[in-house]
Amino acid sequence: MSSSTVHSTFPAGFLWGSATAAYQIEGAVREDGRTPSIWDTFSHTPGKVLGGDTGDVAVDHYHRWRDDVRLMADLGLSAYRFSVSWSRVQPTGRGPAVQRGLDFYRALVDELLAHGIRPMVTLYHWDLPQELEDAFPSGSSAGGGWPERDTAYRFGEYAGIVADALGDRVEMWSTLNEPWCSAFLGYGSGVHAPGRADPVAALRAAHHLNLAHGLGVQALRERLPARARIGVSLNPSAVRPLTASAADQDARRRIDALANRVFTGPMLRGVYDDDLLADTARITDWAFVQDGDLRIARQPLDFLGINYYSPAVVSAAEDTQASEADGSSAPRPDGHGASAHSPWPGADDHVSFHRAPGELTAMDWPVDPTGLKDLLLEYTAQAPGVPLYVTENGAAYDDRPGTGGQVHDPERIRYLHGHLAAVHEAIVAGADVRGYYLWSLLDNFEWAYGYSKRFGAVHVDYATQVRTPKSSAHWYAKVAASGELPG
Ligand code: NOJ
Repeated sequence: MSSSTVHSTFPAGFLWGSATAAYQIEGAVREDGRTPSIWDTFSHTPGKVLGGDTGDVAVDHYHRWRDDVRLMADLGLSAYRFSVSWSRVQPTGRGPAVQRGLDFYRALVDELLAHGIRPMVTLYHWDLPQELEDAFPSGSSAGGGWPERDTAYRFGEYAGIVADALGDRVEMWSTLNEPWCSAFLGYGSGVHAPGRADPVAALRAAHHLNLAHGLGVQALRERLPARARIGVSLNPSAVRPLTASAADQDARRRIDALANRVFTGPMLRGVYDDDLLADTARITDWAFVQDGDLRIARQPLDFLGINYYSPAVVSAAEDTQASEADGSSAPRPDGHGASAHSPWPGADDHVSFHRAPGELTAMDWPVDPTGLKDLLLEYTAQAPGVPLYVTENGAAYDDRPGTGGQVHDPERIRYLHGHLAAVHEAIVAGADVRGYYLWSLLDNFEWAYGYSKRFGAVHVDYATQVRTPKSSAHWYAKVAASGELPG
């Protein structure tokens, strides 16, 4: 190694992990008592997922979990973040738990621990039991699900079930993954399950997700030992104004409210900010927020998980032609698909989205690690004393095995290198970042894009289920083993 190479050394004990989610990898959707989730229904609805792909088989992790854990162990990873499928452990979303479902996760956790890999359980990664979407106690004719208050209480109960089953062996718990996507892509633009496009439903969903988070934390705290670490994984938008003009700054403020503060307000401060309420007043009076809800949503957190892929650039609204011409017709960089409907209740007449500069991944998301550093420093300031984890970061590229069978993905190595350097810079600047979970361990079902986008550090041949670590996996393994990022 050349003596001129400058290494960035990460703090001792920094966790080097990877992340997955149940519906994206497990398959086995009809086994052992599991019932459909909203993603089963959505993916089986023609036209919703590219190529008609579904998670029916996915990467067959439900049967190959031992091999997958061995893969992580061979790569020397020290942490793994996975989600529990609610429909597998409490099929109808209410009532008694199914032991076989819980046994699957207990066995998985035991295997991880036996290999020295620290599990982080995400309770909800977008796969609501279909029965809860079909239940609408308030009498709404549109459907139930997250716009219904009852769903938050069902989540609290489910959190307790999982805590009782895994609390003796899992220390790290995350209530929700990216509630913005559940609320605004699921009920606003409709590009995600359950595919509804109703701005009021989206805002109601956001509130009930905040309430669910609070009820979930309470249920976990009641049951888990004191050493448990409880947090949430958000996908805050690193949103930047196109220019310094007052109008563009105001567009930034609006999106910051709808992307970020709609969750961090209740969860960290126990409020919905006045500007958010004013911006959406035309759509709703927020009467669905009941006394005491915000007190429940604001629970002390042991960590905050940040998922980051790409920054967003906004300006004051332009005419549609201009915004289409600059390629900004997608609602935002991680909008997961185009829709005629907006995921931004009340902001459409005020804000235009622009593509941030930078090289693009296969998702057409610009590569810009400065957004990650900015977010880590911003949340250090917003949640003083709360440790941060990067609970997702990674990129899709069009990876194919070469003639020798190896999969070379130099772009992903560059992406990871840049973003880990940004994490290191944030640490040096004072952010208490304790770990990094690469999205994703394996190529998998990328929601509305089906299997067309490969985020894995490990390549999966979907016809044979053969796993092949890409060159990025070997590169990441070296960084994890040394705790050092080469210069
Ligand atoms: C965020 C989500 O949590 C994950 O499920 C998804 O696959 C990645 N981003 C990439 O889009």
